[in-house]
Amino acid sequence: MEKLKERIRKEGIVQSNDVLKLDAILNHQVDPELIMEMGSEFARRFHGERITKVVTIESSGIPIAFATAAVLKVPMVFARRKRTLTTDEDCYCERVPSFTKGIVTDIMVSRALLSPNDRVLLIDDIIANGDAARGIVRIIEQSGAEIVGFGVVVEKAFQQGAETIRAMGIRLDALVTILRLEPGNIVMAD
Ligand code: G4P
Repeated sequence: MEKLKERIRKEGIVQSNDVLKLDAILNHQVDPELIMEMGSEFARRFHGERITKVVTIESSGIPIAFATAAVLKVPMVFARRKRTLTTDEDCYCERVPSFTKGIVTDIMVSRALLSPNDRVLLIDDIIANGDAARGIVRIIEQSGAEIVGFGVVVEKAFQQGAETIRAMGIRLDALVTILRLEPGNIVMAD
């Protein structure tokens, strides 16, 4: 997706040699047209997989997962990070450390929303160390549903997350691969 690369080049801010601020396009503001294009691209790449649900983790994965689910015409489920008044007690729960926040959080999905008959496409915004990603994979595995693939907008290839997911035998596709971050320069794969 050349257009996405261009937006990352223009609007991404290198915060350090391992953190890229993408608030303008992924983590704080979204451009609905660009998000819909990402959704169409994931739907195209995973076409034919008989996907029944798109699953993500709140918060930044939600718009992209929604767009993908809208194109595939299937429901979208997002794992919650906080219990609410109506949180189902009967849920799958995994504890994951958060790379940017430096804390440990729980991610939860109600057992009522996943079944062994589901064929799940996982979607997320950025994969870094993959702690959140492995947490959501464990939740899907607990449910007995099948993971047909994992779509991420940005793979930071200098961190291990994407490779650990691929090593589990899961197809992980990234729209943009970042090879390294230098002061004022985002080096992306072709
Ligand atoms: P992950 O690779 O499975 O996402 O897990 P990891 O523990 O490595 O990363 C946890 C959080 O840090 C995720 O957000 C992820 O998107 C974010 N993150 C990692 N590297 C970067 C980066 O270079 N830039 C930005 N902007 N974010 C990064 P999260 O905690 O789930 O937050 P959110 O979804 O509420 O935004």
